[in-house]
Amino acid sequence: MKPEHALSSPPSLFPQVTDFPRNFLDLPQADEKPSPLELAASFRKQIVNYPAYAHAIRAVERCHKMGKAGLDEPDCLLITGVSGAGKSTIRKQYAARFPRYEDPDRTRIPVLHLQLPSQPTIKNVAERMLLEMGDPFADRSTAESKTARIITLLRECRTELIILDEFQHFVDSARGKVDYVVADWLKQIINATRIPFVLMGLPRCEQILVVNEQLRRRFNRKIIIRPFGIKTKREAEQFIGLLKTLESTVPLPKPSCLSSSNLIKPIYYATAGLIDFLIKLVGTATELAAEDGAQCLDTDYLSKAFETVILPGCSDEMNPFCEDFVQRILNREGEPFHGYR
Ligand SMILES: Nc1ncnc2c1ncn2[C@@H]1O[C@H](COP(=O)(O)OP(=O)(O)OP(=O)(O)O)[C@@H](O)[C@H]1O
Ligand SMILES: [Mg+2]
Repeated sequence: MKPEHALSSPPSLFPQVTDFPRNFLDLPQADEKPSPLELAASFRKQIVNYPAYAHAIRAVERCHKMGKAGLDEPDCLLITGVSGAGKSTIRKQYAARFPRYEDPDRTRIPVLHLQLPSQPTIKNVAERMLLEMGDPFADRSTAESKTARIITLLRECRTELIILDEFQHFVDSARGKVDYVVADWLKQIINATRIPFVLMGLPRCEQILVVNEQLRRRFNRKIIIRPFGIKTKREAEQFIGLLKTLESTVPLPKPSCLSSSNLIKPIYYATAGLIDFLIKLVGTATELAAEDGAQCLDTDYLSKAFETVILPGCSDEMNPFCEDFVQRILNREGEPFHGYR
């Protein structure tokens, strides 16, 4: 007989997690082949160490070492790039190398990194920093006392580097200008803690350095992550290098020749040379090919992927993988790369 309390408990309105069929999330069994979606996802999760990425990671690393060296005025770094250039990936990948950990007497946060809220004020950014450091009273009190707590906690947690992403939000919220107050606030934290900052965001972030010469002096290192190009020999070599890396990691039975001469320009025009679109294009083509049981990628799968993930419902003249395509970057109003270049 069941115990009384079990009999009296009301029936659940919602299925328990264990009630879901085992394949609810389409997770593969140990002996099952990965699904097309899983193949695409595994492709999209990989991190490619292309030259601009490696250069940016090295610059962040240098900045971090500056912080450890305890200079009075550490060099800070500004990383800008258009949307999808790979800025946040750099932040997350770098920070993942230095996770927080617990010492017997304190939490250590070697690298503090966060995205700014869409309508940042000093108060809500300070609050987000405190939350990120695990302060249970993050939402209490004024901007000034939050700032004072940030400074104390950064010292307590032995923080060596701070990375703030989406910094353009500060620029946006002041109608194309950065508030002097924000620039001063940053300077105040850098001076008090001597921790170097890496700021990241869209190209208009540069404005932060226009309004405050003291900050400009500290942010003397700048990196622009540009999309891949094919104009110069060097650019084309780097783009082909990336395509070779991508083709070697496409999870299909036979090699896909993404770097063959007939595909270089179409892939470039289909993605404007942006890593985000490159990964989406090849990932989606992989999924479509795997659904058909195809052995490798070809122009047709890339063409379908372009229509699926970059410009749905496009005509042949707008599809770089079709013969009728007029060779140009699709950056006019209403086109996928409008506002990019
Ligand atoms: N080094 C890389 N290797 C592989 N894929 C990458 C790399 N960098 C970026 N990507 C791909 O591009 C996508 C967009 O990158 P990310 O979010 O870093 O761009 P972003 O510059 O921060 O864009 P936004 O300004 O819109 O925030 C990632 O989700 C990932 O798929
Ligand atoms: Mg980002």
